Amino acid sequence: MEILQLQAVKDFIRMANDGWNMGWHERNGGNLSYRMKPDEVEEITACLDFSGKAEDIGASVPQLAGEYFIVTGSGKFFKNVLDRPEDSIGIIQIDDSGSRYKILWGLTGGGRPTSELPTHLMNHAVKKEISEDYRVIYHAHPANLIALTFVLPLDSKVFTRELWEMATECPVVFPDGIGVVPWEVPGGKVIAQKTSELMEKHDTTIWAHHGLFCAGRDFDTTFGLMHTIEKSAEILVKVLSMGGTKRQTITPENFRSLAKDFNVTLREEFLYEK
Ligand code: 13P
Ligand code: ZN
Repeated sequence: MEILQLQAVKDFIRMANDGWNMGWHERNGGNLSYRMKPDEVEEITACLDFSGKAEDIGASVPQLAGEYFIVTGSGKFFKNVLDRPEDSIGIIQIDDSGSRYKILWGLTGGGRPTSELPTHLMNHAVKKEISEDYRVIYHAHPANLIALTFVLPLDSKVFTRELWEMATECPVVFPDGIGVVPWEVPGGKVIAQKTSELMEKHDTTIWAHHGLFCAGRDFDTTFGLMHTIEKSAEILVKVLSMGGTKRQTITPENFRSLAKDFNVTLREEFLYEK
């Protein structure tokens, strides 16, 4: 089967374009990766070129040895993924040691995987240990969420609670809350390490003054997680812009009732009295 005919590749391209349409990907901002299923790899193996040179990942992910990923390219614009997929995205395989990768398709013209490959792969490694079903890691630059990192304390408890309060269904969509990494140099192993530690506990982690990482089991739920958090952040920005005083809100008791009826577990650490 042609690579561009594979459903996972089509869904990957569609998600990148949806993110572009949301305004979350100025210039080359953001990146996306997908851990392929064995049957998906099998369908396209004949179209992969294994003759390329192995490159350092910049992190060690032995848990992902031999795995195949669809990834966006470094410096590539999400705007162009739909029209020029072979140039904007690629398929890579991790070597047996988990420290190197090889480009097998795409990223034509000397392209390289995203500079955030260490964070993507370390997040994939952590999530795969939790469940084989986790497949998608998504990084975007949504404006409202980024704005909040200048005015809220960089504390997971505060971000989680404030964003939960902005829309009734938020705790159902991200019951494990949001991690927060204070400002850090992007593109390296340090930020990857800090992020992946938080991803053991959360499906989503903020990079202060930069953006958001989301993990999920498929493209729709991962995109939906990013969308839900950014929508909630937008409401909070509006509330703060109207003076920030809430006449009424969703209370810890309301959250406990919601958790019961929707069958989710909400950690008490987020349900503190204010
Ligand atoms: P890349 O173009 O290397 O993916 O970088 C974009 C980005 O958002 C860095 O955090
Ligand atoms: Zn970024």
